[in-house]
Amino acid sequence: MNRIGVFDSGIGGLSILEELQKELPNQNFLYYGDKKNHPYGNKTEEKLLQITSEIVEFFQRKGCKIIVIACNTATTRCMKKLQSKYPDIIFIGTVPAIKIAYDKKCQHTIIMATPATIQSERVKELLDQYKNQSQKIELLPCKNLAEMIEKGEEQEIEQNLHHLLDKYKKEKIDSIVLGCTHYSLIKKQIQRLFPKAMILDGSKGVAKEVKHQIKLNHLNNHKSNKGEVIILDSLIENDEF
Ligand code: DGL
Repeated sequence: MNRIGVFDSGIGGLSILEELQKELPNQNFLYYGDKKNHPYGNKTEEKLLQITSEIVEFFQRKGCKIIVIACNTATTRCMKKLQSKYPDIIFIGTVPAIKIAYDKKCQHTIIMATPATIQSERVKELLDQYKNQSQKIELLPCKNLAEMIEKGEEQEIEQNLHHLLDKYKKEKIDSIVLGCTHYSLIKKQIQRLFPKAMILDGSKGVAKEVKHQIKLNHLNNHKSNKGEVIILDSLIENDEF
């Protein structure tokens, strides 16, 4: 039986898992929310590679051939290294939806992400690839926002959003990219501050890419398989699953 591993530094990746379940109801998922190492944004690349390698090896032992990195920070900072370290695994990452903003011909876009994602080479590459001449893109590093969402600190989240976003002229912004999977969990609050802007995230694209890879690699489960989802907040080693 095939199984797909999905991980994030906590609850953020659940927004990706939801899309995966919608798109692939017959697949089995193993989700790991790495609360122990949250946040990933303040780790060095070396440390992050060590943390994510442990998760990949755990998923491998549990029979996962596909691993979804449901975290922009881990994807932009170490997915390439994980791909060369584990060539037998099919990795699907999550990156800020800069391509979607480009495809939709957005004119003025704010990209919200962790400072680590904003500073990553991968984001620079995406901007080089998908920025058109007339499009204005504002990179907005959102310090501590993922941590507040992880802890469910509603008041702090609201205050932080005002602090981060009040400086923009609402009528000028036509799109906001949520470049951290935790932010998808507060999409409504962000939309409330920018009622006319499109709020974009990469979750649907990730689910479509996983579907494509399943087909390509013949990893389909039978249609009668009722998709199973196991959610873990520690890497427990037992034989129950
Ligand atoms: N959900 C992670 C992301 O997409 C959270 C970042 C963190 O742990 O710092 O970037």
